Amino acid sequence: MRITVLTGAGISAESGLATFRASDGLWEQHRIEDVATPEAFARDPDLVLRFYDMRRAAAAAAHPNAAHRALVRLAAHHDLTLVTQNVDDLHERAGSPHVIHMHGALNRACCAGCGHRWTAPAVMSATDPCSACSAPATRPDIVWFGETPQHIEAIWAALEVADLFVAIGTSGNVYPAAGFAQHAGRNGARCLELNLDASSNARDFDQRILGPATSIVPAWVDSLIG
Ligand code: OAD
Repeated sequence: MRITVLTGAGISAESGLATFRASDGLWEQHRIEDVATPEAFARDPDLVLRFYDMRRAAAAAAHPNAAHRALVRLAAHHDLTLVTQNVDDLHERAGSPHVIHMHGALNRACCAGCGHRWTAPAVMSATDPCSACSAPATRPDIVWFGETPQHIEAIWAALEVADLFVAIGTSGNVYPAAGFAQHAGRNGARCLELNLDASSNARDFDQRILGPATSIVPAWVDSLIG
């Protein structure tokens, strides 16, 4: 079976990484417009870089959980395309080899001038020179609000051929990811939501299983692969 999975912050919550919209979420400690837009970076690069340095350190200290590991088992039995909105690398560290990071990755830096990417240092400076073109234009390889998600054409294509689309731990508030279920459904996929609480786009799913990801994702994978 061809399965396209979209994960969000909820799959990493039990690894200790705060979700965005929980009451203790990161956006409440740092106003979104102060940290996650190109305008914020232009206005106050040090604030934005410290915010991502903090998140990079938190992700490095976290460990993959049973839900990340269950998706590795799923890929051994089905034709899985794994898309994540998460910028941590917990899917990779669980053993998923091909992860589509549509919102970028904390562990990468990129050059705002030429687009070259490299491994992010623990502490990033906007004036670090690019290793390809030497421009002092370093930024996190993160998709900020107002920017285009990465790999979006490949993702639409995977949604169009999927037999099953599964969204895990995402609130359905941010487009285009919030439109994936509708797109997959219109192209013939069955749509399943695995989440702690029903998402904002709950009507786009045929079925829903609610609970913590470390319980419901392994149970769902086991039910599918036997
Ligand atoms: P949110 O913080 O918006 O939503 C987290 C979802 O995870 C909610 O639906 C929760 O109910 C669910 N959840 C929380 N704990 C869970 C658990 N233990 N098990 C299962 N589900 C749990 O995070 P996202 O939907 O990922 O974008 O946010 C989407 C995007 O908005 C992010 O990628 C980021 C943000 O702004 C950018 O930075 C561009």
